Amino acid sequence: MCLMIGSMSARVNMHDIAKRAKVSLGTVSNVMNGSAVVSEPLRRRVLQTIEELGYHPSQLARALRRDSSNMIGMVVPDITNPFFPALVRAVEDVAYSNLYRLVLCNSDNDPQKEATYLRELQSYLPAGLLLIAAVESKLTHPPVRNGRLTPTVCIDRKPQGWKGDIIRTGNEAGAYSAARHLIDYGHRRIGMIGGPSHLANSQERLKGFRRALKEAKIEIPKAYIQIGNLDRASGLEAALRLLRSPSRPTAIFAANDLMAMGALLAVRELGLHCPEDVSIVGFDNLDVAELLMPPLTTIQQPTYNLGVAAAELLLQRISGLTEPAREIILETKLIRRASVMRNASPSPTAPSMKRSARRAAAL
Ligand code: RIB
Repeated sequence: MCLMIGSMSARVNMHDIAKRAKVSLGTVSNVMNGSAVVSEPLRRRVLQTIEELGYHPSQLARALRRDSSNMIGMVVPDITNPFFPALVRAVEDVAYSNLYRLVLCNSDNDPQKEATYLRELQSYLPAGLLLIAAVESKLTHPPVRNGRLTPTVCIDRKPQGWKGDIIRTGNEAGAYSAARHLIDYGHRRIGMIGGPSHLANSQERLKGFRRALKEAKIEIPKAYIQIGNLDRASGLEAALRLLRSPSRPTAIFAANDLMAMGALLAVRELGLHCPEDVSIVGFDNLDVAELLMPPLTTIQQPTYNLGVAAAELLLQRISGLTEPAREIILETKLIRRASVMRNASPSPTAPSMKRSARRAAAL
């Protein structure tokens, strides 16, 4: 059986609407754009005619005329990472309510794929671009199209050398408060699972962690800083390395919740218990954090607000805001839950360090 498709009618245009509804072209335009007051009877007549003729204005034709569409392109590392959906949803909410439409792309944390997407998106004449950068993003300036900068705002991760707008959270202060919380609970042997060292977020969180321990005059053995890839598997492996060391830490700070979840798995794999044997703190406050066993103490990022602030700044840029690039930093918040327990016997140094000191003295 072959499917017969009726012959496609000639493309309907605004002139056809005006003629059929017996109104001027301007009235049709005013009804469609809401750009001027039209009497209710006329408005209804025009809308009914549009419906009858199945008229859909061509966004492509409009974009070609204006060299800009109502599309906003957004590139994120991986939308399956549970941190990003709320942020993307915030962007789409703001875009939609301002008559823009969002196109989302995943860079897979690959700077080459990110660059390809940013280049190819330009051919759709986007009004603006939003980027959550890949770990080793090469982007330093907003992309140029036909000699003009395409309004572009980076979110969450500041690419090294980026000169444009950035909306992010206070990673250094957040990590400081995470470490400070563990210190206040008597922990002195505190390990960290950091993110990829090329990532500004990772550098800032490690810096905050080090600042808190230095202030408390707590040494950080080199083995106590392990690096992960911001995913659960690397968090598990890093935590196993920390917890298998002779003088294992009594607490671990992970630079994101996914790696903190990996650390919880490592505790279980080694037959230990959280928080009795190992206290754990994460970063992000994913929805799942409070459902874990035990519920995860973590640093909350204002994820939805990051997206709103970035989208609103981008819309201002699209509307012609020309002041210098902005760096907007939103505050984090420590969320206390049951994965941290007071350390019963805070020892100033790891036991193996004491043993090695005794051995050295006995020689
Ligand atoms: O889990 C993803 C992590 O990378 C979050 O901490 C967020 O800051 C993103 O950059």
